[in-house]
Amino acid sequence: MKIVVIQGPNLNMLGIREQNVYGQMKLEDIHGQMKSFSDQNKMEIEFFQSNLEGEIVDRIQECMGDADGIIINPAAYTHTSIAIRDAISAVQIPTLEVHLSNIYQREEFRHTSLTAPVCAGQITGMGPFGYHLAMVGMTQILNEVKMMKEQQSKQAKAQA
Ligand code: DQA
Repeated sequence: MKIVVIQGPNLNMLGIREQNVYGQMKLEDIHGQMKSFSDQNKMEIEFFQSNLEGEIVDRIQECMGDADGIIINPAAYTHTSIAIRDAISAVQIPTLEVHLSNIYQREEFRHTSLTAPVCAGQITGMGPFGYHLAMVGMTQILNEVKMMKEQQSKQAKAQA
């Protein structure tokens, strides 16, 4: 099973930017913890960060036929990007949205996520631990998908 983690604009500055909001942990440390989780659970994982909307759209499209699940923090594009929403919707891959801060406690323009409606779920306000929760959540989703596919193939064989 393969998970692709996509990080939006300014998340490369974690540990430096607004520590009171986003904490002190660097992106590479968050990714290190996610990698340990995926190793322990025998999953493949890939990380991608970009400050550019089109690059994020491209990376989501590349997941088609390659990744089983996507974990994404679209950062500021959460609130503005129809293109990223459409890409998530197009690839039909279970996707979880993560935000370090609680976007619903912040400025009003952050209260709307254009991307969350096309995601399986959203984790917001749990800091870096939110990414761990997303890994656990994605493991559950992928296990359910696997079980469903096994059942479907059993039924198809029984009907043949
Ligand atoms: C963020 C929240 C967004 O509103 C903001 O633009 C970010 C980070 C978060 O992880 O809390 O860059 O996605």
